[in-house]
Amino acid sequence: MKAIKLIAPAGLDNLKLVDIAAPGEPQAGEIRVRVHASSLNYHDLGVVLGRMGAPDGRIPMADGAGVVEAVGPGVTGFAVGDHVVSTFFPPWLDGAPTIPDFSATPGDGVDGYAREAVVAPATAFTHSPRGYTHAEAATLTTAGLTAWRALVVDGALKAGETVLVLGTGGVSIFALQYAKAMGATVIVTSSSDDKLERARRLGADHLINYRREQQWSRQVLEYTNGLGVDHVVEVGGPGTLEQSILATRVGGHIALIGVLTGIEGKVPTGTMMRRQQRLQGLIVGSRQHQIDLVRAIDATGVKPVIDRSFPLEAIGDAFRLQQAGGHFGKIVLEY
Ligand SMILES: NC(=O)c1ccc[n+]([C@@H]2O[C@H](COP(=O)([O-])OP(=O)(O)OC[C@H]3O[C@@H](n4cnc5c(N)ncnc54)[C@H](OP(=O)(O)O)[C@@H]3O)[C@@H](O)[C@H]2O)c1
Repeated sequence: MKAIKLIAPAGLDNLKLVDIAAPGEPQAGEIRVRVHASSLNYHDLGVVLGRMGAPDGRIPMADGAGVVEAVGPGVTGFAVGDHVVSTFFPPWLDGAPTIPDFSATPGDGVDGYAREAVVAPATAFTHSPRGYTHAEAATLTTAGLTAWRALVVDGALKAGETVLVLGTGGVSIFALQYAKAMGATVIVTSSSDDKLERARRLGADHLINYRREQQWSRQVLEYTNGLGVDHVVEVGGPGTLEQSILATRVGGHIALIGVLTGIEGKVPTGTMMRRQQRLQGLIVGSRQHQIDLVRAIDATGVKPVIDRSFPLEAIGDAFRLQQAGGHFGKIVLEY
């Protein structure tokens, strides 16, 4: 069967299409899944560029969606033919987070889903939302669940609140869609007026070009009667955090998600303390969070925004598009 391996030295030109043995029959507690799709995340880009220290031969991609082909003894809740989507932290089923790294994450610490089939514990998957294509389902593992956890699990978002999302990548567009589905007002920033217009068509209430408006917190305050927003989906990191703090209301919540501008920097701790804000770091979520997300999608009908789809063998070109920031929402692989 087809698979992609990252051959040392890591880099987009060293993502090699290989033929590997198909997995055997699932053992107790396992299922075999014919994987049909994956989706690209900034984390996966970091892996294939060699920033995460993945070993020679690693099969990349954290996200996987497909069809159950065989069910091992003792598995309940899945049947042959079910459409399923993988989880980001297979060992984290429920409860508070305990995993401090990516050692158990497919496509990083262990082999991922850039292959046509896997045998894995049944608990490494959930059902996909009803009516979703495999490509749509594959977008949920990382980006969809991160947006959901930021707003709903950690943020306890309520109708009428205001959410600020930074940029128009995978996590941010999901956050826009979930926030609108739940009755929030949404402010979106982007480097591109065209992308801002697309965000408006998805329901964004206020738009800011962060290239033109470098002190964009001022514009956020104008849109919120000087108060600031209730939640920020902070995907930028050190280069955007100060503006996010200034754009957040007293007592507001900043979901610290991303590292697009780097991994270290100054934080205006005094301002945060005076404004009594909550800065909550998070990495994706648990299997139970994903089950809750799928239930919410079944109820609301929210569909992911897929910018472009590539075949598995064009994985390098798919990452080149992501690296160039040419996308809006998600890039997927279908196979
Ligand atoms: N903690 C977690 O659980 C978790 C999960 C998923 C992702 N992440 C992180 O979240 C970030 C986004 O991930 P992703 O997969 O959504 O990435 P992505 O799809 O590649 O999105 C990148 C987009 O971010 C925007 N951007 C870049 N620099 C920006 C800046 N200075 N200010 C505002 N927006 C900026 C750009 O939007 P425009 O083109 O519109 O300007 C760009 O297209 C990454 O750092 C990733 O590692 C964390």
